Amino acid sequence: MTEDKEPIVRNFNFVCVMALLVGSKIQFSDESKFAVDVSKTGLTQIPKDLPPKTRVLDMSHNYISELQFPDISFLSDLEVLILSHNKIQQLDFSVLRFNQGLEYLDLSHNQLWKMSCYPVVSLKHLDLSFNDFDTLPICREFGNSMQLDFLGLSATKLQQLDLLPIAHLHLSYILLDLEDYNVKGNEIESLQILNTKKLHLVFHPNRLFSVQVNISVNTLEYLELTNVKLNDENCHVLMNFLSELTRGPSLLNLTLNHVETTWKCLVTIFRFLWPKPVEYLNIYNLTIIENIRKEYLTYCNTALKALKIEHITNRVFIFSQNALYTVFSEMNILMLTISDTPFIHMLCPGKPSTFKFLNFTQNVFTDSVFENCSTLDRLETLILQKNGLKDLFKVGLMTKGMPSLEILDVSQNSLEFNRYERNCTWVESIVVLNLSSNILTDSVFRCLPPRVTVLDLHNNRIKNIPKQITKLEALQELNVAFNYLTDLPGCGAFSSLSALTIDHNSISYPSTDFFSSCQKIRSIKAGNNPFQCSCEIREFIKSISQISSEMVKGWPESYKCAYPESYKGTPLQDFHISQLSCNTMLLIVTIGVTVLVLVVTVTFLCICLDLPWYLRMICQWTQTRYRARNTPLEELQRNIQFHAFISYSEHDSAWVKNELVPCLEKEDIRICLHERNFVPGKSIIENIINCIEKSYKSIFVLSPNFVQSEWCHYELYFAHHKLFHEGSDNLILILLEPISQNSIPSKYHKLKALMTKRTYLEWPTEKSKRGLFWANIRAAFNMKLALVN
Ligand SMILES: *[C@@H]1O[C@H](CO)[C@@H](O)[C@H](O)[C@H]1NC(C)=O
Repeated sequence: MTEDKEPIVRNFNFVCVMALLVGSKIQFSDESKFAVDVSKTGLTQIPKDLPPKTRVLDMSHNYISELQFPDISFLSDLEVLILSHNKIQQLDFSVLRFNQGLEYLDLSHNQLWKMSCYPVVSLKHLDLSFNDFDTLPICREFGNSMQLDFLGLSATKLQQLDLLPIAHLHLSYILLDLEDYNVKGNEIESLQILNTKKLHLVFHPNRLFSVQVNISVNTLEYLELTNVKLNDENCHVLMNFLSELTRGPSLLNLTLNHVETTWKCLVTIFRFLWPKPVEYLNIYNLTIIENIRKEYLTYCNTALKALKIEHITNRVFIFSQNALYTVFSEMNILMLTISDTPFIHMLCPGKPSTFKFLNFTQNVFTDSVFENCSTLDRLETLILQKNGLKDLFKVGLMTKGMPSLEILDVSQNSLEFNRYERNCTWVESIVVLNLSSNILTDSVFRCLPPRVTVLDLHNNRIKNIPKQITKLEALQELNVAFNYLTDLPGCGAFSSLSALTIDHNSISYPSTDFFSSCQKIRSIKAGNNPFQCSCEIREFIKSISQISSEMVKGWPESYKCAYPESYKGTPLQDFHISQLSCNTMLLIVTIGVTVLVLVVTVTFLCICLDLPWYLRMICQWTQTRYRARNTPLEELQRNIQFHAFISYSEHDSAWVKNELVPCLEKEDIRICLHERNFVPGKSIIENIINCIEKSYKSIFVLSPNFVQSEWCHYELYFAHHKLFHEGSDNLILILLEPISQNSIPSKYHKLKALMTKRTYLEWPTEKSKRGLFWANIRAAFNMKLALVN
């Protein structure tokens, strides 16, 4: 925002316009209304830059002293103009001549004393009250405002025909401010008001009531007086004032605001009003002064149905409580409300009472109220909200004498039920019982009226609804919100339950029995509980999603996971967890099946396809390739003439000659066979050793025959030949036929060791495997070899 005084309402748009205007904000808050609120902004004059589409303009509580034609003439859509609490002294109604749609004009609480008339026919609400007018500010032109409904006026003197120009209008409300009304000795003025339903008169807040005007109104239904200050001496002035006003048979409602009076005068007012047609008498903000003595009041037949007194301040400290309470307890009316008072008690009426409705909200009554009282036999509703009640047992006992009682509200007290040894007695007629905001615990369920249909127990200390309780078969609505319950109740004891409110408790795992046992349920509100989002809650979510969403109050927004941390704040609606992770049996079965399939597959592979053989062969092949790559060339440059020497048993010679040798020679592998490359003059063993030494590798074709007959030839050599000890690198063992470990003679440690390490190649009987066998053999020779010839 800049400090620029230039308004920035250039770029006017229909949704929201903000403008800087004499340091304040102009804002269209509501799309359709185009309201500008510049109240309480220190304005001294009407802003020059109001948006021309403005419909509602609030400039109240400022320092504006003038309303001029150019200020608002361009606001052709203006409907509401609020200028109350300013400093306007004069008004020319013709400044409004272009505001043809103006319906609501509030000029109250200004300093108006002079007015020029002009017809503003569209006005419905015109408030000129709390100004400095001398006589009532009535223009003949107001008579043209046929829609006028509310008229606020002020004057210091009244004349009988002041209101004649508007006598033909059918007003709903006239507010007449007489705060500065001048009392002129004993001269009694009179004022004729025609046609208004409601008349509200406001007097000076601190002066003793002294207005003596004969006001007569036709069709008056509702009369309200504000600021009535009385003592024993001027009490009759009010009676005189009221006598004309209360004459009409239509006056049903009388309200007195801010009344200060002696007790005696108050009782006098009651006495005065009792035979009048008034049906509803309300007194708000009553202050009792001086003293309270016993006042005799005989209650003649009355039209009065209801007396309501809210907020009493008692300035009398020492007095007889009886004198005070008797006046109320003996009233022969239907409804009595006395709330927000320092009253500590109310008496039991001395004879059968007419009260049907008693409301004693926010007093300081104790458990002894209406104790052993049997005269309230027509009482249907009793409200004792916000008092000092403590013992639920006594409350039950109190109702015993009220055979018609249907609604009892004892909420916001300090009620407890601790009398385990005694059964509660309640009157059976109670259908609505409000026990909310007390300190009741689980035991309350043993002390309830048997026919209750609506039970409010919210905001107490209930942890559990006990299973063993007297059945509440009529109970339809149960509110146990804001307690410490950890589960939903079943409906075993509440067979008619149709609405359950159980939000804000400590329910983590709501059990789903609820849905099966509560067949009649039509509404459930269970949000704002600390739901534990785990497997257990799935059933609940499922049940709740199955019933219609209108039945589940607050769904889905107030049903959220509180635990575990990872799901905190997730709406239950969006919480999903797989079937598998919740069902242990299923999990075990799944794992079992997987393992089984794996085992079967492996077994199948091993048995039918000889997988271990393939693995072994592939492993050896890889190792050989690796070794070949890492063998330094010099090492190979030894005095070598052959790639391989083959040793075998005579029994296996057919295989060697038909299978092995052709295959190797096809690969250009040179072979030393001891019978083929035999050096005459040397022993067989020398020949063999010679052959071995000239060969890069030695191939042994192992078979049971070989082991039995030939191995010994080599053992000797092996025992001394260090090359062999350096590793089996140069040794290729081919297992032509399986040899069992047992069949190897125990002296051949070396062979046994080699066999256990499985460093041999098995000759597969299946043709299909032979490719891999040969590949392995070839790999063993797969190296560049420069043979010394
Ligand atoms: C019970 O009284 C409380 C106020 O104390 C009110 O909010 C609530 O609506 C009442 N319950 C019923 C069922 O009337």
